[in-house]
Amino acid sequence: MSYLKIAGVVVLVIVLLLAGALAWVRFGPVRRAEPVQAGTNTSRSLPEPDRTDGMALHAALEARRSGRDYDDTPLSLDEVGQILWAAQGITDPRGFRTAPSAGALFPLELYLVAGNVEGLEAGVYHYDPSAHGLTRMVEGDIRDALAAASLGQSSVADGAAVFVMAAEYERTTRRYGSRGEMYVHIEIGHAGQNVYLQAASLGLSTVAIGAFDPDRIAELLGLPEAFVPLYVMPVGHPAD
Ligand SMILES: Cc1cc2nc3c(=O)[nH]c(=O)nc-3n(C[C@H](O)[C@H](O)[C@H](O)COP(=O)(O)O)c2cc1C
Repeated sequence: MSYLKIAGVVVLVIVLLLAGALAWVRFGPVRRAEPVQAGTNTSRSLPEPDRTDGMALHAALEARRSGRDYDDTPLSLDEVGQILWAAQGITDPRGFRTAPSAGALFPLELYLVAGNVEGLEAGVYHYDPSAHGLTRMVEGDIRDALAAASLGQSSVADGAAVFVMAAEYERTTRRYGSRGEMYVHIEIGHAGQNVYLQAASLGLSTVAIGAFDPDRIAELLGLPEAFVPLYVMPVGHPAD
């Protein structure tokens, strides 16, 4: 091999190493939530999300409305899985999701409080976007306690399921400092709007709830110390 070819290979290797290092600094490792109550964890995969059919985006935008009154019809596992995917599902081989994330650091963690979901025992479940699956963290129906922790808002007790979004700020603030806090709040808004629009397109109703006691919600869900609940979104079939 000529010196020119060897030099070319060396330059190529250096460029590849630099690109890898840059990608690491840019995107960092994706971290996952830890199951919090050993002994009660059971994992299951969700049905494949629908990526082809459904309401036109403009119609979902038009239909989106906060709804607080639901009937007793259960949610299906398809509906629950579709909403979880809309909020935080992975849509790109690099791990990018349905909602944008500053620096692709993904500070949000999504929990499903299931009460009246077909084929799913009542309990608190953590959503794993990479597996599109659920891990049960807490057994039993905690919707009434969740409503009490949400200043007694009855919508939280009445939703067939409640989607709780939490954040680990440090994932974003370690790179962006205090500005990272703002980024996390913006990201919750993106994910929350996705839940609204997906619910609307399925003919379901939801409301974004910010008025709650975060410490009590964290306690009920058994969240790790660093996770802060930011949104509580009950979902159900709208009452007439
Ligand atoms: C950050 C935030 C916090 C909210 N908190 C509550 C809440 O605690 N309870 C509630 O019933 N609605 C809550 N809402 C919903 C608003 O009341 C609702 O968006 C507003 O009335 C406009 O209605 P629309 O969503 O149907 O357009 C909240 C909305 C946002 C964006």
